[in-house]
Amino acid sequence: MKKIAVLTSGGDAPGMNAAIRATVRYALYKGLDVYGVERGYTGLINGDISRFNSRSVSDTIHKGGTMLKTSRCPQFTEIEGRRLAHETLAAYNITGLVVIGGDGSFRGAKALSDEFGVKVMGIPGTIDNDLNYTDYTLGFDTAVNTTIWAINSLRDTMGSHDRVSLLEVMGRGCGDIALYAGIAGGAEYVIVPEVPYDIDAICRDIKSSQKRGKTSNMIILAEGAGNKEEIVARIKEKTGISVKTTTLGHIQRGGSPNMADRVLAARMAVKAVDLLCEESDSRLIGIRNKQIIADPIDEALAMPKRFNEELYSVAHILSL
Ligand code: ADP
Ligand code: F6P
Repeated sequence: MKKIAVLTSGGDAPGMNAAIRATVRYALYKGLDVYGVERGYTGLINGDISRFNSRSVSDTIHKGGTMLKTSRCPQFTEIEGRRLAHETLAAYNITGLVVIGGDGSFRGAKALSDEFGVKVMGIPGTIDNDLNYTDYTLGFDTAVNTTIWAINSLRDTMGSHDRVSLLEVMGRGCGDIALYAGIAGGAEYVIVPEVPYDIDAICRDIKSSQKRGKTSNMIILAEGAGNKEEIVARIKEKTGISVKTTTLGHIQRGGSPNMADRVLAARMAVKAVDLLCEESDSRLIGIRNKQIIADPIDEALAMPKRFNEELYSVAHILSL
């Protein structure tokens, strides 16, 4: 393996720059030529690629977003699109590719690997933490901390006014941001897609919590778990309480990556480059039980859904 490229694809996440930087610098250290591809698979198809040196990634480690930019690329889901992408790699004699992205990006990586023999290493970059083969994805820790910052602010003002607050956070199919931020922020109720919830029981509980001396309550809702307008309408109907809603939105996707995401990015990038140097088959890099792991892509993507039931079961108890 002499030449490799790196790209970011799908939704951005804090820590992607740290992963690009570590990939580039470690690859150079290992004697490889390394190329940066702009805008994910779109850039690969369009030939938006350039050779990187150590300075190409200077002053990026602390920045959120991705210096390579990212995209969603419908053309790449077709074999003709992937053929064009491979032509770009072939024109530069690039045989290894590091893809930093989520589930969809890895399905694309798998197809490129199977059809054209490109050795692809996937580094999980998504705030949702929705890849089952790895305990953590890049960006999750930072996004949870951003969410905690929002919860802290809401607690201040909601407490002053004796209000009930609902904060909607990201997570279409995965409630990890809601769960971890809910526990760490002391929320009374955490609503996630993995667990059915009973809004009437929440209403009864809010009423009884007032009898226990609670003057303010916080609900954290993962966006994929329910409709916030319907939830607050039901609470109003059942309790007479007007819930103040906040949608954190893309604020939780940006911001400077924290220590956990920067260090994880470095460890995963080193593993990805080492495997490319060894001419390993394509793999997805992850972390399990604090160890960096690399699974065959098929196996990794087929892993059953994981959810921390234990943590979920105490979320409400700890707020009583
Ligand atoms: P993420 O990687 O964050 O899950 P997406 O699901 O949007 O983001 O996927 C990113 C890109 O990966 C898509 O725009 C598309 O180019 C490519 N992709 C997604 N699914 C597939 C697939 N099944 N086959 C080939 N390419 C895919
Ligand atoms: O990165 C994952 C995610 O943040 C989801 O939680 C969210 O629904 C989605 O991306 C929104 O992404 P975009 O606005 O870029 O389509």
